[in-house]
Amino acid sequence: MIQKLKGTRDILPEEIKKWQYIEEIAKSTFEKYGYEEIRVPVIEKSELFQRGVGEDTDVVQKEMYIFDDKGGRSVALRPEGTAGVVRSYIENGMSSMPSPIKLWYAMPMYRYENVQKGRQREFNQIGVELLGSGSYLADVEMIEMINTFLEKLNIKDIELKINSIGCKKCRSEYMEALKDYIRPNLDKYCDVCKNRFEKNPMRIIDCKEENCKALNQNAPKSVDYLCDECKNHFENLKKMLEKQNISYSIDTSIVRGLDYYTKTVFEFVSKIDGLTVVGGGRYDGLVEELGGEKTPAIGFATGVERLIDVFDKNNPDFDKSNKLQLFVAYIGEEANLYSSKLVSNLRKKGIYVEKDIMERSLNAQFKYANKKNAKYIVTIGENEINTGKAELKEMETGETKEIDLSDIEDILKKQI
Ligand code: HAM
Repeated sequence: MIQKLKGTRDILPEEIKKWQYIEEIAKSTFEKYGYEEIRVPVIEKSELFQRGVGEDTDVVQKEMYIFDDKGGRSVALRPEGTAGVVRSYIENGMSSMPSPIKLWYAMPMYRYENVQKGRQREFNQIGVELLGSGSYLADVEMIEMINTFLEKLNIKDIELKINSIGCKKCRSEYMEALKDYIRPNLDKYCDVCKNRFEKNPMRIIDCKEENCKALNQNAPKSVDYLCDECKNHFENLKKMLEKQNISYSIDTSIVRGLDYYTKTVFEFVSKIDGLTVVGGGRYDGLVEELGGEKTPAIGFATGVERLIDVFDKNNPDFDKSNKLQLFVAYIGEEANLYSSKLVSNLRKKGIYVEKDIMERSLNAQFKYANKKNAKYIVTIGENEINTGKAELKEMETGETKEIDLSDIEDILKKQI
């Protein structure tokens, strides 16, 4: 038997309702803030990610699915959504449309990772990109929107952490200070950190190795090296978050793994397992880097698989709310027709209801209803058709009550 590739997953029918629900909440929430959906190709020129995400990042260097196509072009499966969306923004002339441009997406991403909890090779992101506003107000609105999204999903076990990594100007001074701090102990750092020292020392701050974490304890912080503009931006952001009662903490170790970030970076971290569920930040230089006009921008993405992990812990009853409301069993040909019409009507009214389509015996119909965990069952025979009355049985409690079949829609709707 051919099995699926390591790090990929099938999303089976029993789970898909949750995916659809989360995507619906994302869509309805983001639309209220003026976002429109965009879909960009899975496959792009590899140069897009090399230039966009950064040649020296793990994502590009180690994790990208990259190959030559039959025409000899170097192409890659997208490891993230921002670079492709920005390419599309530039290529489709969106800068001439009223600013800011607000786009959202739900798309699969590909990274050749060491597969472990929360790290797959094919995973799904729901993300948004806001292009054209450099104001802290855009940062606040985005963070507030993520909070609304998480609240609507009843997700509580998650906390917001923010940091500012400054702009190109102030970062170079910070990088020098960081290198000066690390240099005397460089030989004590892990090999990954040693390799990052010259090209990407900021990522050393983000290392999860206990030894490196201890060495980093007194490392200089980017927030202490911000230029006036970046400092003002960060101060305004913090003040406005407080005014809007949005809780956050400052975590100076958040530097993010992709090179395009500037100024504000943020993560929503699961309190259950410490995994980052939502990650984002400003990328004021990316549009220009990819050949467009200088355009400030900010965005985020959440890994849907990680989001679902927290969602499950916070919504243990979600599956129950999606179960089969009613099974209509029947005895005899006339009742078959009657119940087919009844089921069809109820479905048109938005109720999830099933009846037998396997020509099974009454007993086998009951067994099936049981296996499908139907909430209620009603049995239609000659008597029920003549009187218009039937017994509605609640499967969990075994309780029965006589109802008028004409009232069944109202009775079920009250239960939803
Ligand atoms: P990222 O932090 O690389 O950012 O990924 C965002 C989220 O995707 C992570 O917080 C995590 O939930 C999920 N994720 C990442 N890698 C994996 C994986 N291997 N398996 C499962 N889930 C994963 C970005 O991708 C940026 N494009 C976000 C962004 C948009 N920044 C600005 N705009």
